[in-house]
Formats: sequence, structure tokens, C-alpha cells
Amino acid sequence: MKSVQKTTLLTALVAALGFSSFAFASDHDKPVATGGPSSNVAWTAEMMRFVAKGDISNGARLNSEAYCASCHGHAGIAPSPNWPSLAGQRAEYTFKMLKDYKEGKRAGTAHNQLMQLAVMPLSDQDMADLAKYHASFPLPTLPVGVTHDATKAKEASKMIVRGDGSRFIAPCQSCHGSKGEGSITDIPALAGMPPEYFIKTMQEYRDGTRKNDVYARMRLIAKDLTDAEIEAMAHYYAGMTAK
Ligand code: HEC
Ligand code: HEC
Repeated sequence: MKSVQKTTLLTALVAALGFSSFAFASDHDKPVATGGPSSNVAWTAEMMRFVAKGDISNGARLNSEAYCASCHGHAGIAPSPNWPSLAGQRAEYTFKMLKDYKEGKRAGTAHNQLMQLAVMPLSDQDMADLAKYHASFPLPTLPVGVTHDATKAKEASKMIVRGDGSRFIAPCQSCHGSKGEGSITDIPALAGMPPEYFIKTMQEYRDGTRKNDVYARMRLIAKDLTDAEIEAMAHYYAGMTAK
């Protein structure tokens, strides 16, 4: 990353953080029509090899120099319940998200916009390096001060393990794994994800604001879920790595 780009990025992020301090509470903006496919990332063997060869030590350097750590933490554990943790996330998923933000495929809210600014100076190689760096940590525990509700988590277990045939909802664990560890290629790990981020992103799949999921896999599942079900599932996954 060149230093002139870094200066521009810093200015942009400072501006974004300034405006977002009041936008965070209710930034459920209207979706922006982007058109075209949900993502430009296609999982060819070549693409898989490219991500697999990401350089962890360069990823560590970029995590500090490109300001990722200021929002996602130095070891990928987000300090805010609104923001996703990246520790232990599958490298392919992280790489896909970074590409999707840069190419305007995950866009339309103030939080998306923060990420679009953050990834602006990154090359594909930088993204693979950052993805491998974050994948090198164990799955996250919840940020300090964020708790999960064990009673709510219990309510969610039926949907997660068995799904709901009457609404054609497949069990979450059939894709995300029985330990919330994710799966090939771009199915993310969910264990230890802060509940507020989980709820927000599920609501965005449900109302179509988030539409970078290839084949609408998550939009089709989320569209029939209630707020109470989403909240219960958020607590289930948040508690998976609880100490
Ligand atoms: C100003 C704060 C901020 C900075 C700096 C920042 N992020 Fe983010 N990041 C966020 C927020 C907020 C979200 C959730 C955005 C959304 O809802 O789309 C996010 C989302 C992500 C996601 C998607 C995670 C998921 O589970 O889907 C990835 C990957 C990511 N960031 C990586 C990075 C990397 C790598 C950097 C450094 C180049 C970075 N971020 C810099 C705030 C930030
Ligand atoms: C058919 C496979 C499949 C099933 C079943 C499935 N998911 Fe997903 N899920 C995905 C994929 C693929 C993505 C990544 C989509 C993208 O690129 O945005 C994803 C993304 C997510 C995310 C976003 C994670 C992040 O870090 O932003 C959440 C939350 C989530 N799923 C929750 C659930 C829940 C809860 C269920 C059960 C009700 C479920 N999923 C069932 C495939 C699935």
C-alpha cells in the first residue's frame, strides 16, 4: 500500500467515523441497486490456490497499517458488539467479503460504506494476505462486556439442528457446521460472532439490503425468519465459544 493512499484513507476514515458516531444507532439505510451478479468472486481452483497462498506475516503488517485493527482488533476480536470479529474466519469467506466491498457488491448501509473506504487501497494480494492472517487465529470469544443469553440460545437449537420443513428452511448447521466452524468454500464460521452484528446482518439478508450471497442462499433462508428467531440464533452462535 502506497503512503499517499494511506493518507487519503486515513482522512476518509476519520470523516466516516465522525459522521458515523450518530449514524450507528439507526443506520438502516435504503438499499442501493447495484445490478449484475451478487459477487464477482468465482471459486475456481486457481482462485482457491491464490487465497490459500496468502502471506500471513504480510497480513499481520497490513492489519495494523491499513487500520483494520482499530475496528476489528489486533487478533481479529472486534471491540464493539456491532462489528464482526474476523479471528478464525475461513480465509475464502474473508477474501470474498473484501472483494465484494471493493466492487460495491456489499453496499448500501453506513457500515458497508466504512468497509468500502477501508478496502479501497488494497490489492487482491493484500486481501488474500489479510484473509490468511485472520484465519490463523482460533475462533473468537465475545468481546469484553458482551454477553449471550443462554435461555434464548436454547430456543434456537431446533432450527439450527433440524431446520423447519414447513417453511423449507434448511438446518443452519447443514452448511455452517455443528460447531459453527463454517465450510467450503465461502460458508462462514459463526461461532463467537457478536450478537448485535449477527442480528443486523440477518435482518439485512431478510430485507434484501445485503445481497452479496451467491445463489441468494442466505436471502432465501432469512426471508421467513422472525425477529425473535434471529435473536435466539444470534445468542446460540455467540455462546458457542463462551468461556
Ligand atoms: C472504521 C472501522 C473499520 C475499519 C477501519 C475496518 N473495518 Fe472491517 N468492518 C467494519 C464494520 C462496521 C463491518 C460490518 C460492515 C457491514 O455491515 O457490512 C466490517 C466488516 C468487515 C468484514 C466482513 C465480516 C463478515 O463477517 O462478513 C471483513 C472481512 C472486514 N471488515 C475486514 C476488514 C479489514 C481487512 C480491514 C482493514 C483493511 C477492515 N475491515 C477495516 C468496520 C471497520
Ligand atoms: C445452503 C447453505 C446455508 C444454510 C442452510 C445457511 N447458511 Fe448462512 N450462509 C451461507 C453462505 C454461503 C453465507 C455467505 C454468504 C455471503 O457471501 O454473503 C452465509 C452467511 C451467513 C451469515 C453472515 C455471517 C457474517 O459473518 O456476516 C449469517 C449470520 C448466517 N449465514 C446465518 C445462518 C443461519 C442462522 C442459518 C439457519 C437459519 C443459516 N445461515 C443457514 C450458507 C448457508
